[in-house]
Amino acid sequence: MFFNAILLGALVYASADNALPQDFTRCRQKDPKLNDCLKSAVPDALKRMKQGISSLSVPQMEPLHVSGMNIDSGAGPVVITQNYKNIKIHGLTDSVLTTYKADLKHYRLKTDSITPKMEFIADYVMNGRILVLPIQGKGIANITMVNLVVKHDLIGEPILRDGSVYMHIRDYKVKFIPKKVVLHFTNLFNGDKRLGDQMNLFLNQNSELVFNELKDSYEKALSSVFQDVTNKIFDKVPMKDIFLED
Ligand SMILES: *[C@@H]1O[C@H](CO)[C@@H](O)[C@H](O)[C@H]1NC(C)=O
Repeated sequence: MFFNAILLGALVYASADNALPQDFTRCRQKDPKLNDCLKSAVPDALKRMKQGISSLSVPQMEPLHVSGMNIDSGAGPVVITQNYKNIKIHGLTDSVLTTYKADLKHYRLKTDSITPKMEFIADYVMNGRILVLPIQGKGIANITMVNLVVKHDLIGEPILRDGSVYMHIRDYKVKFIPKKVVLHFTNLFNGDKRLGDQMNLFLNQNSELVFNELKDSYEKALSSVFQDVTNKIFDKVPMKDIFLED
């Protein structure tokens, strides 16, 4: 264990001098229009990350793969245990930013994005109750959010390493505000088509209720994915090479 840690440490240090890909727009810390610069640079970078960035171990973003996620919705009108595996998230790279607020002195970034269509496709297993109806199934889930507004709040801290400051993101909060949610689950009730069709209809007629009960779990799962991807870059590229100093 100990030697593994050292080896891992050595690998991290060896790659400490990474740079952003050449084609990424750089914004200057002192630019009075820094926020405007970031507002266009970030989605532009996201588009260039569709296939990932191997030198920084940034994963493919289109679709973005997430290994799994468990949701236990306890009390209230929606009580469901859900397990998702092989999650693919489509559409993130089409996001645009509507506001950006960088407070680099306090290592804080706040931005609102809008994603025209975010599709969450995954293998699911679920069991529970919605209002008075039991729900149960195992198949493929498609949860599509249309005109999804995401409020991102990134709380960072400076990490000094080898004479460079890195802006590590310690906490990444997100809030999802979709205009519309379309849900579809295949193979509900062991493939009973009539029951399955009825339940899918019911879920969509009550999508706001269903989504609101599950929102916290989706937000938690995705914020940790966003945090990982951001830190893949921020932990490897010194802060002054992301936000230029002069
Ligand atoms: C998921 O659902 C949306 C909305 O109904 C649809 O447009 C999309 O094609 C579906 N995706 C898959 C992979 O089934």
